[in-house]
Amino acid sequence: MNAGIKVFAPASVANVACGFDILGFAIDRPGDEVIARFSDTPGLRITAITGTKGKKLPYELEKNTAGYAAMRFLQHIGETKRGIEMEIHKKMPFGSGLGSSAASAVAGVMAMNELLRRPLEKRELLRFAVEGEQIADGAFHADNVAPSLIGGIILVRDNPTLDVHRLAVPKGLQAVVIHPKIEILTKDARDILSKETSLKQHIQQSGNLAGLIVGLYHSDFDLIARSLQDVIIEPQRAQLIPHFFEVKNAALEQGALGCSISGAGPSIFALCANTLIAENVGNAMQKIFYDNKINSELFVSNINQNGAIKL
Ligand code: HSE
Repeated sequence: MNAGIKVFAPASVANVACGFDILGFAIDRPGDEVIARFSDTPGLRITAITGTKGKKLPYELEKNTAGYAAMRFLQHIGETKRGIEMEIHKKMPFGSGLGSSAASAVAGVMAMNELLRRPLEKRELLRFAVEGEQIADGAFHADNVAPSLIGGIILVRDNPTLDVHRLAVPKGLQAVVIHPKIEILTKDARDILSKETSLKQHIQQSGNLAGLIVGLYHSDFDLIARSLQDVIIEPQRAQLIPHFFEVKNAALEQGALGCSISGAGPSIFALCANTLIAENVGNAMQKIFYDNKINSELFVSNINQNGAIKL
């Protein structure tokens, strides 16, 4: 058996308070790994899936986010006959709000591109990874996939055309992400959302989104702090996460710039101006879950600027 290549795709925080479905950033860890190698059996096959912690992920390409993303990429470049095996090593929980299915899809397509010596540019892989992730929640949005693939803080101006842009990242900016060990499926967290927003909410949310972007470009932490507010989605989803407001208040009391739900939850993220504040914020957030007997995992990270990489 040849050794093949291994790819890592990082977790990501989608929405970032004021950018539902259109903002996201990558963190350094956790992340998923995919190993790909050539084989004598024609066609693409998933030969191993590990790290699923008792859950079953499908081996059929059409039903697997990494497999489907890889398959669509191979169809696009006309490599459907070649024998390729892929192993998926899940290193983060499902239904966590950390972009787990996005990371798998990104790692799947990136592994194919690396194995075949990069027939496409990294950015050109985006569409296939989004198609793969779509299997998980049925919606076509790149707010987890784009940061996991290309890194940084990403604005998706338009999801259907994948008009994605990397935003400035102020020096020192740190992300805190806490994952309470409960599961929320993205599909369920989307189904509860109202299809309507008021004009007032629209004005507030677009003001905050614009303010956040200006704040990032000017490294204006006060403006970032005023802008990291979600008046539309968080009020509807907070009820799904036990002790959400206590955790958020604890983060803000310790000096977080802002704190909201990471993706569809249950993870909660905070952005902080430096590592010391980030550590204090993380500890305060974790204490709330600990005091309420809910296990949680804490990640304090730079904004990951690399996205998916070959290991
Ligand atoms: N923007 C998405 C949501 C991210 O909040 O539903 C999770 O896929």
